[in-house]
Amino acid sequence: MILGIDAGNNEVKIAGKYGLIKFLSDIGEGRSINLEQVHGEDDMVFEYEGRYGFAGSLAKYESEFSGAIMGDSKAHEDTKLRVLLGIHRYLTLYNVEDYNFQIIVGQPISKHTPSEKEKLKKILQGKHIITVNGIKKKININVVNVAAEGVSSFWANPKEGLTRIIDLGSGTTNYATVLDGRFIDKDSGTLPYGMNTNKSNDIEALARGIATETLKKWKKEDQVYLVGGAANLIEHLMKQFYPNVQLLDPIFNRRIQDPIYANAIAFYNIGVNVYE
Ligand SMILES: Nc1ncnc2c1ncn2[C@@H]1O[C@H](COP(=O)(O)OP(=O)(O)OP(=O)(O)O)[C@@H](O)[C@H]1O
Ligand SMILES: [Mg+2]
Repeated sequence: MILGIDAGNNEVKIAGKYGLIKFLSDIGEGRSINLEQVHGEDDMVFEYEGRYGFAGSLAKYESEFSGAIMGDSKAHEDTKLRVLLGIHRYLTLYNVEDYNFQIIVGQPISKHTPSEKEKLKKILQGKHIITVNGIKKKININVVNVAAEGVSSFWANPKEGLTRIIDLGSGTTNYATVLDGRFIDKDSGTLPYGMNTNKSNDIEALARGIATETLKKWKKEDQVYLVGGAANLIEHLMKQFYPNVQLLDPIFNRRIQDPIYANAIAFYNIGVNVYE
């Protein structure tokens, strides 16, 4: 089965032939709970390689040391758990049995280097057994490809000519340039902040910050597209800096989907192209 997995700092997004899913990225330690209460539809208790813990909404509310490791590289153990939890959830939600996976995951542009990509592949590839909410599943990750976040979302709705993309995430903001389908590295990068990293929670200041950085290379009249969970929120604020800004409108199953799924959909499209 081919899956595009965007293991974000805030939410994991997955695209596959059965549809789209997302859930909170939080992972924390587990413990026995006295009060049994449902915190959200993505409450998860997991067991993996001797580690027992809470994930999703359950970790957010009931783990004392929960959270998501933020940062501009995703080559770490939390990404592995997010990916395995995600595949488990995907199979459970769509009620399908499958053991073999070819996946495409993302890495922020700034750390999309051969060594970080290799590290991430090594972490993910192989045979895994994970139990989530009492259900044990065997997951063989046979092939892993690592795509660049933000820039890849171009493949969720390809455009002609010069395309600028801003992927406003929770911990990072990727900005990317694609010219006639080709990635232009010198006009692309990753800013080490996003929706959940600014103390003031001042989205206007965040918009200005992103514009100030990107305008060093880009022009005001450029065609800029927005993706990521907060794309809708920031659109009107970006207009003063980029009058032609608009949402990228990722297409999946012939429908326009929420911009939060842009990377996952693009990863899936890349996977179908590479593996089929
Ligand atoms: N419908 C929505 N309206 C407004 N904000 C939203 C919505 N959905 C998500 N967000 C916010 O958008 C932010 C970015 O979400 P997104 O899922 O793109 O981040 P991420 O991919 O998990 O993070 P990163 O790219 O840094 O790894 C989050 O902080 C989230 O709180
Ligand atoms: Mg993201």
